[in-house]
Amino acid sequence: PPGTSVADDGTLLIGGVPVTELAEAYGTPALLVDENAVRARARRYVDGLAARWPNSRVTFASKAFPCTAVYRLLAEEGLGFDVAGGGELTLALAAGADPEGLVVHGNAKTEEELRLAVEARAGLIVLDSFDDIDRLERIVGEVSGRTQGVLVRVTPDIRPDTHEAVSTGQAGAKFGLLLPQAREAVARLRGSDRLRLDGVHAHIGSQIMETGPFARAVEALAGLGEFAVYDLGGGLGSRYTYRDRPPSVEHYLDTLVGTAGMVLPAGARILIEPGRSMVAEAGVSLYRVVTVKPGGQPFVAVDGGMGDNLEVSLYGQRFEATVATRVGGGERCRLVGRHCESGDVLSAGVPLRDPRPGDLVAVPVTGAYTYALSNNYNGARRPPVVFCRDGEHRAVVRRESYQDLLRRDLG
Ligand code: LLP
Repeated sequence: PPGTSVADDGTLLIGGVPVTELAEAYGTPALLVDENAVRARARRYVDGLAARWPNSRVTFASKAFPCTAVYRLLAEEGLGFDVAGGGELTLALAAGADPEGLVVHGNAKTEEELRLAVEARAGLIVLDSFDDIDRLERIVGEVSGRTQGVLVRVTPDIRPDTHEAVSTGQAGAKFGLLLPQAREAVARLRGSDRLRLDGVHAHIGSQIMETGPFARAVEALAGLGEFAVYDLGGGLGSRYTYRDRPPSVEHYLDTLVGTAGMVLPAGARILIEPGRSMVAEAGVSLYRVVTVKPGGQPFVAVDGGMGDNLEVSLYGQRFEATVATRVGGGERCRLVGRHCESGDVLSAGVPLRDPRPGDLVAVPVTGAYTYALSNNYNGARRPPVVFCRDGEHRAVVRRESYQDLLRRDLG
């Protein structure tokens, strides 16, 4: 995968650092991030979009990897941030992100969260319902004499070919407003003196492997009329396994902007919100093998699992894996975690070269939605996040301790 290479002795390197050195320094499990790979991907997005549609901004869907080091790195690369609610808003601000570049999302934003967003002077708040409109109008009146920029989230009734749980733009989705209601919301907001309707937004889902649905979403937004801003959401798929063939960033941008050029007003501002495709391929999860249990396909059990990677359990995501000191294929194994569920699988039927207890195992393409969804099931301590670059490394999130597990427990 990108950012990794293999030393002469067969050891995996992340950002030029041997994983053996990283395991020694930080223990396992650990989430290793190739910093240059994130930057390179961000530049492809930023430069690629600016070249095709100058009045535009790339807004990172920070739910994919919400830690301050990631916000900071991507802010340096010129990105804004999609924040889903008060927690991500707080993290973004703590990292020094410019509030003007924040796009605040959520289908159930609370009073407190809306207030935080207005007080922080977030650039855009995305309205997901009529309740959202009522509430925000009142809060803006109470909190500030200013007007607040808003977008209306539209459900364009498009169903991309992806897992049901991450398809968000079809009729019946809990997000946004179907076209007739969206028109009503637009009409209402045009008459508001506290909320300034800047435009419309659609996000149709995640891990999308074809470009057609993105083009249809742009067309659906165009059908709502002329606005200053069109936020086209995220959703481009990543290459998890050798068989996956997601469109390239450039092909995806060609489709978006090609369609925009035909149906959107020439002077409009375009925002996009990639999450997964910005960070997935730059992350590698490192584990240690605890036990190998022979059987048809041997079980290779490691010291992590669904506590640090829920993608398999929630979406049936498939991952490759390798023994990190003997990179390459071998006998097909069932790579499983340490948690008390049979569904706690990291990779079913993955070829591993002679796995033994004590070996390091790497699962690549784990940069997106792993840290974000990590949890303490079975008392697991959430792993550290380690940035690697040009042979150097630093922890940007430390491993949880058993003491951390007790911290909120009041007894
Ligand atoms: N914009 C909005 C409003 C979103 O809700 C999302 C993701 C994105 C952008 C970014 O989509 P991406 O480029 O990452 O596909 N928890 C799931 C993923 C859920 C994605 C939810 N929304 C997972 O672990 O796979």
